[in-house]
Amino acid sequence: MATSSAPGKIILFGEHAVVYNRPALAVPVIQVHVDVEVLDSPRAGIWIDAPDVNLHTEVGTLPSNHPIASVINKFAPLSSPHLQTTKMGGQRGVEIKITSTIPVASGLGSGAAVSVALIRALSSFLLRPLSDEQVNHLAYEIEKIHHGTPSGIDNTVITYAKPVYFIKNPPSSDNRDTGGKVETIKVGIPFTIAICDTGIPALTKESVGDVRKLWRMNQVHCESIFDEIGQIAFMGRRAIERGKPEMLGELMDQNHAFLQKLTVSSPELDKLVDAARKAGALGAKMSGGGRGGNMIALVTPDLAETVTRSMQEAGARNVIITKVE
Ligand code: PMV
Repeated sequence: MATSSAPGKIILFGEHAVVYNRPALAVPVIQVHVDVEVLDSPRAGIWIDAPDVNLHTEVGTLPSNHPIASVINKFAPLSSPHLQTTKMGGQRGVEIKITSTIPVASGLGSGAAVSVALIRALSSFLLRPLSDEQVNHLAYEIEKIHHGTPSGIDNTVITYAKPVYFIKNPPSSDNRDTGGKVETIKVGIPFTIAICDTGIPALTKESVGDVRKLWRMNQVHCESIFDEIGQIAFMGRRAIERGKPEMLGELMDQNHAFLQKLTVSSPELDKLVDAARKAGALGAKMSGGGRGGNMIALVTPDLAETVTRSMQEAGARNVIITKVE
């Protein structure tokens, strides 16, 4: 038997601009996670048991681009004869159990977490060790199947499970899709974030597509917004590394305003951002693809409860308090 677990994630700064090669900052959220268990089964075939999404089936019955099937299909040709024999209907079967506490389509990286945990569990079950780079690369390939033009930040922060500063394709490189440049960052002084769910599922692919349309209509305007957001991510990194987390609040507020200009916020997100600020949060912004999903607020530990209550009154479906360290 082999097991693996992967955390959720939240983007602190730089979403959307990161698709256009500006830097972004993301951190793991260990309060929510995906757990995968792979074990021998007396039944032939590869059986998936994922109660959270009500999926109990043999992998061959799933379309090849299904998020779980595509991980197994990517993995099988690289794997030991065991999985291949099983895939071809051999006598020994495999059972894969997937459980998750990460809400789907909310900006917490549930898809990438399933990919990373599944890749690691399969690699350990098949005694085929993979480096973090290999896990990240495979997970990025899966992200591309499902999200079109992902920056790669989700799979990266979840693979490394550390705060990361990420650039999709650094300017010095040629046009090859390398999956991005990643630097893990050290947190000078830990800080606390409230992550608040609107309860509205939103497809990142759609908001990314709408920003693309906006960019096509007015490249100069959009590029200057991306530059500003990139600068915010850069300053955010410096503040975190130098142990000045109190500076992050102002940067969050500025980042939110630029995301509003890119049309990816929503009335519900704006309402929660306002409620957090009014209750004393040091700053707040939407996080991830936008239109729904999550927003984040910088709080001090003693403010966390008041800010949470204020966001709940403003319609929050769920609030997670997490320490970034
Ligand atoms: O909604 P999320 O957390 O998957 O956010 C995606 C972040 C974007 O920058 C909007 C897209 C991307 O691929 O980086």
